[in-house]
Amino acid sequence: MKNAMAGHTLALGIILFGAGAAQAATATRGGFGALADGTKVEAVTLSNGAGMSARIMTLGATLQSLIVPDRGGRKEDVVLGYDKAQDYLTRPNYFGVSVGRYANRIAKGKFALDGKTYTLATNDGPNSLHGGLKGFDKRMWKIESVSNGSEAKVVLSYVSADGEEGFPGEMKVTATYSLNEQNELKLEYRATTSKPTVLNLTNHAYFNLSGNDTRDVMGNLVTLNAERFTPVDATLIPTGERRAVAGTPFDFRKPAVVGARIRDTRDQQIRYGRGYDHNFIVDGAAGTLRPAARIEEPGSGRVLEMRVTAPGIQFYTGNFLDGTFFGKNNRAYRQGDAICLEPGTFPDAPNHPDFPSARLNLGQTYVNTMVYKFSTK
Ligand code: GLA
Repeated sequence: MKNAMAGHTLALGIILFGAGAAQAATATRGGFGALADGTKVEAVTLSNGAGMSARIMTLGATLQSLIVPDRGGRKEDVVLGYDKAQDYLTRPNYFGVSVGRYANRIAKGKFALDGKTYTLATNDGPNSLHGGLKGFDKRMWKIESVSNGSEAKVVLSYVSADGEEGFPGEMKVTATYSLNEQNELKLEYRATTSKPTVLNLTNHAYFNLSGNDTRDVMGNLVTLNAERFTPVDATLIPTGERRAVAGTPFDFRKPAVVGARIRDTRDQQIRYGRGYDHNFIVDGAAGTLRPAARIEEPGSGRVLEMRVTAPGIQFYTGNFLDGTFFGKNNRAYRQGDAICLEPGTFPDAPNHPDFPSARLNLGQTYVNTMVYKFSTK
């Protein structure tokens, strides 16, 4: 009887798998409420037959929710965020947003390009952070297209005016999210400009693979394929050094528990970052999609593997979350509640000629691709 049942379950499993594979991944358009000024926010939900779904909203081309099954098939949200669109503006924490024009910091809000100095708003101590006062995360993007098939896809666009937030050149940007049946969410940013400019576009998802933020991330096993990272000063601006991770709390070349060395204050970099808030130099050739990071959450069994084309990846452990921000389901988000993996060029690259270039010329197309693959263990 037992064997017969097992056989039955197995057969059913095959049928279900077959149905899942044949069934197209779908993209569904809907609303996501309105902002305080009445502006309507739209959302697109990408779903596959394997139980995953991603909701992307037009405010900030934001990954607002990401439902992923755990090892028992339980479907839960693995990214932090807010239930209401307006909260993304009034309590900005960059939850899941598209960051631009320049993700991370530009020292003292100044950079020079072809002999001219540009001045940006300083919104993070002495520095400019994440595109300034009203970056791409706080702008309304437009849904260009949605499609179903072997992958569900949405293309969003935004046109940034010449001079917006102090940056030169009119910039046309797209963010393309696609979800396939292999539980891979792919995100690709593309941009063109009307004049030479600088840019660094990324997504700022805060991952908590326990599901619905059940546990903090200190017990997560993290792997970063990086032999070196870029140390920072007390204001989190890179010093210019590329330091080997070997023998430091920044060595994640083999899976390591996040919390094991995060309080190792003998390392000045841990003190400056209040934990991890650093750019790691991804091993291998930038421009090719290659493994960069992996997170394993032992409790739920969820695993995230990330491949990127970018030269670097910012590894940030939610150090500025202080419990005063209530997110989805009124949950207070606290330090160490999430891991951000932000692929891009290096922070402050416009002021470091020897860093991978952040420059974009007229006629060139900028591309930054990242793939988030989910599985369970
Ligand atoms: C990035 C930065 C952090 C912090 C967050 C947003 O990860 O490196 O220092 O500013 O964004 O809160």
